[in-house]
Amino acid sequence: MSQSQGFATRAIHLGYDPLRHEGALTPPLHLTSTFAFETAEAGGETFAGDRAGYIYSRISNPTLDLLERRVAALEGAEAGLALASGMGAITSVLWTLLSPGDEVIVDKTLYGCTFAFMHHGLTKFGITVTHVDLTDPANLSAAMTERTRVVYFETPANPNMRLVDIAAVSAIAHSGGAQVVVDNTYATPYLTRPITLGADLVVHSATKYLGGHGDLVAGVAVGRAEAITEIRLVGMKDMTGAVMAPFNAMLILRGLKTLALRMERHCASAQVVAEWLENHPEVATVHYPGLKSFDQHDLAGRQMAKAGAMIAFELKGGLEAGRRMMNGLRMIARAVSLGDAETLIQHPASMTHSTYTREERAVHGISDGLIRLSVGLEDVSDILDDLDGALAPARVMRSA
Ligand SMILES: Cc1ncc(COP(=O)(O)O)c(C=O)c1O
Repeated sequence: MSQSQGFATRAIHLGYDPLRHEGALTPPLHLTSTFAFETAEAGGETFAGDRAGYIYSRISNPTLDLLERRVAALEGAEAGLALASGMGAITSVLWTLLSPGDEVIVDKTLYGCTFAFMHHGLTKFGITVTHVDLTDPANLSAAMTERTRVVYFETPANPNMRLVDIAAVSAIAHSGGAQVVVDNTYATPYLTRPITLGADLVVHSATKYLGGHGDLVAGVAVGRAEAITEIRLVGMKDMTGAVMAPFNAMLILRGLKTLALRMERHCASAQVVAEWLENHPEVATVHYPGLKSFDQHDLAGRQMAKAGAMIAFELKGGLEAGRRMMNGLRMIARAVSLGDAETLIQHPASMTHSTYTREERAVHGISDGLIRLSVGLEDVSDILDDLDGALAPARVMRSA
């Protein structure tokens, strides 16, 4: 299978030939914890790395291998690693790259559990975590020290949709000897490929768009082969043990087959929903990279093939109006997570980002009234109908 083939083709075919597997169109599921060695000597040689082969599924497994190769190819990376969750990917990568005394520079806004890991996990072991507003890459030049080993960010950031210029930040980080790790969960490789823009490692919550169906929790990391081998053998095997189950790998391989199609539909609907929200009299602000009013609309145009399907917005009536609106929805699910076929809505301050204190949320740009919407694959007219019905009481209350 050639690397020059298109994204959708590689997502369906890369790395698998049915004719080498008794004609089975779908790759086999290797549900096994361990692998038998031909001889004691062969086992020893495999452990020593002198002979290729599988040992134990906390290290590698053929079903996971295929997924790892496919995601790496879609991201333009040399190698990939499948992990038990997005948090498993993030922690396995950072426990491998960082040591006591090191500093990690992170963007101002991070997903709630990533923020908690940084502040309550890494700092406990003598690692300094410094927040820098990376929406202006010049801030990074000023902040880097000789202890900075890693620069870490999400783009778009969860939940407020801030973008980071991957190429500019990577150039500055590299000039100071630091590695760049990007959480590409929101964009997916269909919209943005950070490695091709200069990043060293990419992490994903595969729970989201890569899986795409809300039926599993999983993670992936991709990067240079040497780095991924180290994260596999140190971070994952010994430190976190965050191994993906083969059955989940099979479900994600199935999800990847429609990633391109799903992202097209997600993005087209999200653009319609964002424009509709922006024109709604009860809506105060909408943060969506596809809107001309979005601060970083130009960067979105350069860095993202399309604007994605996550929207953050605030109502004029603030938090109370937001809660009333969420409770008035009939189809859209009040649920965390994102990237599913179902449209999901949640309130970051009390849900996904409740790991921040109120004061921290204020500093990190997560306002109490912010609502996060993951636009799903339903007919967009039904999504708009549901939002319109739920916003109607707010309109009545404000005009009364
Ligand atoms: C941007 C981002 N990164 C990482 C994670 C963590 O992923 P998981 O829930 O698969 O551990 C999430 C989860 O919501 C997320 O939104």
